Amino acid sequence: MSLALLSLAALCWGLVSTEPTIQCGSEPGPSPEWMVQHTLTPGDLRDLRVEPVRSRVAMEDYSILMNVSWVLRADASIRLLKATKICVTGKSNLQSYSCVRCNYTEAFQTQTRPSGGRWTFSYVGFPVELNTVYFIGAHNIPNANMNEDSPSMSVNFTSPGCLDHIMKYQKKCIKAGSLWDPNVTACKKNKTVVEVNFTTSPLGNKYMALIQNRIVIGFSNVLENKPPTRTSVVIPVTGESEGAMVQLTPYFHTCGNDCIRRKGTVVLCPQTGISFPLDGRRSMMGGWWPFLLPALLGATALLAAGIYVIWRHKRIKKASFPTATLLAPIKVLVVYPSEICFHHTVCHFTEFLQNHCRSEVILEEWQKKKIAEMGPVQWLTTQKKAVDKIVFLLSNDVNTMCDSTCDKSEGSPHENSQDLFPLAFNLFCSDLRNQTPLRKYMVVYFREADTKDEYSALSVCPKYRLMKDAPAFCTELLRVEQHMSAGKRLTACSM
Ligand SMILES: *[C@@H]1O[C@H](CO)[C@@H](O)[C@H](O)[C@H]1NC(C)=O
Ligand SMILES: *[C@@H]1O[C@H](CO)[C@@H](O)[C@H](O)[C@H]1NC(C)=O
Ligand SMILES: *[C@@H]1O[C@H](CO)[C@@H](O)[C@H](O)[C@H]1NC(C)=O
Ligand SMILES: *[C@@H]1O[C@H](CO)[C@@H](O)[C@H](O)[C@H]1NC(C)=O
Ligand SMILES: *[C@@H]1O[C@H](CO)[C@@H](O)[C@H](O)[C@H]1NC(C)=O
Ligand SMILES: *[C@@H]1O[C@H](CO)[C@@H](O)[C@H](O)[C@H]1NC(C)=O
Repeated sequence: MSLALLSLAALCWGLVSTEPTIQCGSEPGPSPEWMVQHTLTPGDLRDLRVEPVRSRVAMEDYSILMNVSWVLRADASIRLLKATKICVTGKSNLQSYSCVRCNYTEAFQTQTRPSGGRWTFSYVGFPVELNTVYFIGAHNIPNANMNEDSPSMSVNFTSPGCLDHIMKYQKKCIKAGSLWDPNVTACKKNKTVVEVNFTTSPLGNKYMALIQNRIVIGFSNVLENKPPTRTSVVIPVTGESEGAMVQLTPYFHTCGNDCIRRKGTVVLCPQTGISFPLDGRRSMMGGWWPFLLPALLGATALLAAGIYVIWRHKRIKKASFPTATLLAPIKVLVVYPSEICFHHTVCHFTEFLQNHCRSEVILEEWQKKKIAEMGPVQWLTTQKKAVDKIVFLLSNDVNTMCDSTCDKSEGSPHENSQDLFPLAFNLFCSDLRNQTPLRKYMVVYFREADTKDEYSALSVCPKYRLMKDAPAFCTELLRVEQHMSAGKRLTACSM
């Protein structure tokens, strides 16, 4: 019995040891087989898959690699198969291309594995960058002759960003705080105060906590020098905070303004001392209901009347209200110089405007076709008339704008937006010279608010620093109907 088992094991071992395995190495150029005519060639692959895996060299620059796996077709042509070649093209700000050739150590004797199942192999290699589209192609060798169709198989793979459960181990992501778990908790203490707790990171000591309930209702900067500790910050708020979102923005040395932000929700603080049981609250509400209902109806009627009046005024083209109507979105044209990183800076700013300042944002980036049709000057002039505000998005810290965490893949500002910012600035300058009211213009800075010399004319505009002046900026934006005096005017407006 034991002898039989032993011989069976030996037989299995013998079979396993002669099974082909792969030996892979880089082969950037054409394969040597390409130069030779082959009367018979192997068929194509049956399946090709790619998934990112964490490499074992943990702290290496490229700790995330591709696991490329493929399945061979079970047909007679497998006997001719010598190798499989895999080529990967990566498309982000830089285009990358590399190929690997995997030789089979033995000729294939069977169409399937002796143990059953198809021949499946995998190769782990090809470093994976963040937010990159990869095209992965594979073909068998010897490949078809030069003028014949070469069977190959391809798949694409888009690598995710730092929040992905595997990508977060990438060195860049770790530096941007991907492994930091701040465990943000926040609760409403009373009508005017929210308490936010979070665990600090050893990567930096500067944070900003922002409370937003559609619009920003409060924020606070936090400086914490101690190594990872649980920090508590009390933030005054100007609106209903229960259910609001709290956003924690860290400012680490390596990622500056582009660090990974964390979110939490504001809940009611557990009541200590005097507590209202739920039933008591409900009965109180019930008691108030008869008084509340008429008041509510009254308010609705007032609102309706207000809307009607506003609508009539608009029709008579007497748009001069002391307070904002807040009903229609504010149209905002955002212009930015080409050195600003589109994805991280402009997109985040746009998102902020849309989500928290009731704005409809117009970006050159989204209207390329229209601009091409109309010409940039005509397009800008039209937009200038149509929008409520024109925001110049500036940064005086160019070096950190497009750092490593920034994805410059699509709409790289360096290729696309070269003429629009100077044009918009010229337009502004001509308004300045012509004594046209400048109330449409605003300037927003990242980091410090000191205007670069070349754009010094913009210093007459109201200036805001993100995200420090975010509430003030939103308030100003929503007050578009109000006239803002242009303040002092500069006579020189040189480019
Ligand atoms: C694979 O085989 C080719 C042709 O025989 C050879 O040039 C190449 O060096 C081999 N590659 C590896 C990794 O063994
Ligand atoms: C790569 O993928 C194959 C097929 O899914 C799997 O068998 C193999 O374990 C993977 N390798 C790694 C290192 O994850
Ligand atoms: C990637 O592949 C999917 C399906 O295989 C396809 O729908 C998609 O269009 C491809 N994307 C690109 C950019 O080629
Ligand atoms: C987050 O903090 C809360 C309160 O301090 C604690 O109960 C919870 O276990 C923490 N969660 C994690 C994942 O650390
Ligand atoms: C924050 O921490 C303090 C002190 O540990 C605790 O009393 C409070 O309940 C915490 N608040 C939240 C919202 O987690
Ligand atoms: C809210 O709480 C804070 C601190 O807990 C306190 O200073 C403030 O007076 C309270 N405000 C109201 C309206 O109760």
